[in-house]
Amino acid sequence: SHNIETKWQGTPIDELNRLPQCAPPLSHLKSAPHHTVTVRTDLLREGEVPVPYPTKFKDAWDDSSVKMPCSEKNLFVLLCANATFSVSLLTSHSSLQDAILRYNTAHAKKWDFTALNLLCTEVRCSHWRCSIKSLIGFFDFSVFFLYLQPIPLLKSRMNQSLTLSQGQIACLLANAFFCTFPRRNSRKSEYGNYPEINFYRLFEGSSPRKIEKLKTLLCYFRRVTQNTPKGLVTFTRQTLNNPPDWESSQTQLTRLHITCEGTIEEHGYGMLQVDFANRFVGGGVTGHGLVQEEIRFLINPELIISRLFTEALEYNECLIITGAEQYSKYSGYAESYKWVGSHEDETPRDDWQRRCTEIVAIDALKYRHFLEQFLPEKMTRELNKAYCGFHRNNANRKHLSAVATGNWGCGAFGGDTRLKALIQFMAAAEAGRDVAYFTFGDAQLMKDVHDMHAFLTERRVTVGQLYDLLNQYFNEVCKNCHTTRPDVSLYRFIYETVSSPAASDTLNSAKDSG
Ligand code: AR6
Repeated sequence: SHNIETKWQGTPIDELNRLPQCAPPLSHLKSAPHHTVTVRTDLLREGEVPVPYPTKFKDAWDDSSVKMPCSEKNLFVLLCANATFSVSLLTSHSSLQDAILRYNTAHAKKWDFTALNLLCTEVRCSHWRCSIKSLIGFFDFSVFFLYLQPIPLLKSRMNQSLTLSQGQIACLLANAFFCTFPRRNSRKSEYGNYPEINFYRLFEGSSPRKIEKLKTLLCYFRRVTQNTPKGLVTFTRQTLNNPPDWESSQTQLTRLHITCEGTIEEHGYGMLQVDFANRFVGGGVTGHGLVQEEIRFLINPELIISRLFTEALEYNECLIITGAEQYSKYSGYAESYKWVGSHEDETPRDDWQRRCTEIVAIDALKYRHFLEQFLPEKMTRELNKAYCGFHRNNANRKHLSAVATGNWGCGAFGGDTRLKALIQFMAAAEAGRDVAYFTFGDAQLMKDVHDMHAFLTERRVTVGQLYDLLNQYFNEVCKNCHTTRPDVSLYRFIYETVSSPAASDTLNSAKDSG
């Protein structure tokens, strides 16, 4: 056939805003009550390793800070100080296991290191053993030289930022690998509402997934131990206190680029990239999980450190991470995921020496039954969650990058892509951002969503009117539906309702009265 298959529709992607071009000048970086910065900002220079501040470890063993492995209050600290890891002796994987168990004597019997052992029998085992060896050496160093002020816990309902250097993050992650964070090996502890940070579950079992995950992380450790990265990463917890009044919104939809090719992380560079998150950020990254969020956390491992201090997200909260670097390339997805090799991230840095990569973790609701998600309160929850992720206080829309997203909440969480696309368009419109939507190979979805977006835009349907249409769909189609799926699809309902003479009256009168 002579048909050239369409790979994208809507606005050309190059017309959408990206960082760093669209960003306004940054204010001077400094510590403030709502922003902890753990480096000397006066000494921050491009191409130089940031200088930690303060220059001695400052301990805080309290409810508002991360409890650190090197604290005097840590029961295992004596063990740490006495543990003389002689790198030359630690050449085999069993020694790594010993090293980890040294900090975790209580768990020696329970923990399983099968995956780690398997990795060390692989074809390239000498490569991995070498990586492990340098990690041990680095860890030995970092345990004692982690200059840090107390790391604030980013707790529920706090609007708080934390900026760490990539080198500090590497030290912290090495500690996570060796499972040294105190009180973090049981879900029942005071950190029950935080994600897991110690990596012990990563070593267990014999699934090929674990091996590929370990390779991806060891690639990162190898890179950062060879060359300390020279930038910063900022973690911001954002709470939405005043959600938009969706019903009365007069906002028009913004522009859409939609494509069935490419990924958020690769083709959405410079945009606000959505992490299809779990409320415990990072989801199953230190365990068995290996879908969008976990993969992103593996290839950009600095994201993983957010698990150390980010309490589970509430319905109206998100976590924004600026500056995380990509260290690995991958192929496949879930069962077929493979570490492919080291990746050189060439993303430019901003004035705070952060990579211009902005990622936002927003957790969708998990649905077991298809119809649930059309309940008005669920739709509003998702609208507010997405809006919380996309909205920036006091921002001029010309400075806002487009949102790079896709089937948020529609894989592991079972949502409907066609509904979630509209919800994200509404939230993006209200936040003043265009959208780049990656359908992850689904050409039919690309066409359907593009056509709907074009139809709504052409009819000048506002966010408020669309909100009303979603609620009408629930009341007229879903509420009394006795089958698992409604007879009339959402998009057909919207086309018919907007096109019918009666409804166009309502739409017009809503417009006139507004
Ligand atoms: N770029 C664009 N689209 C993608 C990409 C990518 N890199 N990767 C996947 N997709 P899912 P959820 C598409 O299931 O339903 C994790 O465990 C692909 O079509 O990861 O929100 C979290 O920690 C995929 O089916 O997101 C949560 O616990 C769809 O996006 C939970 O999963 C959804 O990806 C969140 O599940």
